[in-house]
Amino acid sequence: MIKEAEYSTKLAEVRSYLNEKVNIQPELGIILGSGLGGFADLIEEKIAIPYREIPHFPVSTVEGHKGELVFGKVMGKYIVAMQGRFHYYEGYSMQEVTFPIRVMQVLGLNGLIVTNAAGGINASYRPGDLVLIKDHINFMGENPLRGENISSLGPRFPDLSEGYDLEWRQKALSVAQEIGIHPQEGIYAAMSGPSYETPAEIRFLRTVGADLVGMSTVPEVIIANQGGMRVLGISCVTNMAAGILPQRLSHAEVMETAERIEKQFIRFVQALVRV
Ligand code: 6GU
Repeated sequence: MIKEAEYSTKLAEVRSYLNEKVNIQPELGIILGSGLGGFADLIEEKIAIPYREIPHFPVSTVEGHKGELVFGKVMGKYIVAMQGRFHYYEGYSMQEVTFPIRVMQVLGLNGLIVTNAAGGINASYRPGDLVLIKDHINFMGENPLRGENISSLGPRFPDLSEGYDLEWRQKALSVAQEIGIHPQEGIYAAMSGPSYETPAEIRFLRTVGADLVGMSTVPEVIIANQGGMRVLGISCVTNMAAGILPQRLSHAEVMETAERIEKQFIRFVQALVRV
């Protein structure tokens, strides 16, 4: 378990390392999920820092994830993007998975856009749909806040009644309409993975109210909320979950859909940076 003083020291070290490298003050953080890596090409005045160069950062292992923190300007706003995230299924602890969010918090960001690829449970969804997350269910079996609370970072028992900022979501829906994108809205269930769910598990998740299922996002969103950041979550439905359609699931389908939708997804996130 992480001791308060040790953790605060680590965060202070990362902050001074980054402040030395980067002169801008980002307002907004963006976690770029699978297939959204191309968003980084839109960033102006870009400063990309590989995770392995940042003190105390875990190192990304998954294929297709670059593993960089990218600072710069999008739509006139200073942002910092995570190109590649740390997944719990890779073996990282919840503290490691969420460490970059703490870094964003101490850098003074007040908003976080979280993106991911997810399986569709709601039968009205289609692969390629974009979904604004309105709430989540944590089935990962762990909580990143378990253990000693660091009271300088947030409350022991944070409220998650509006884990995904309502006003931001409403603005996102009207921006989507303006640019001709028609997102769904839904509830995201987080599983630890890395196996996909069984059809029985998906029936269970549907019964308890989940529209989508994935292996990320929830730890980061819990930490961002505890740290006082507003959160917007967007999923790309890359495939339907097990048992929804007769076919089997494949990681190849996930990657193909993510690639097919990437341009639209990028356009949406770009438009959202303004609101
Ligand atoms: Cl079907 N399940 C989970 N847990 N994650 C996913 C997925 C399914 N499809 C994409 N990511």
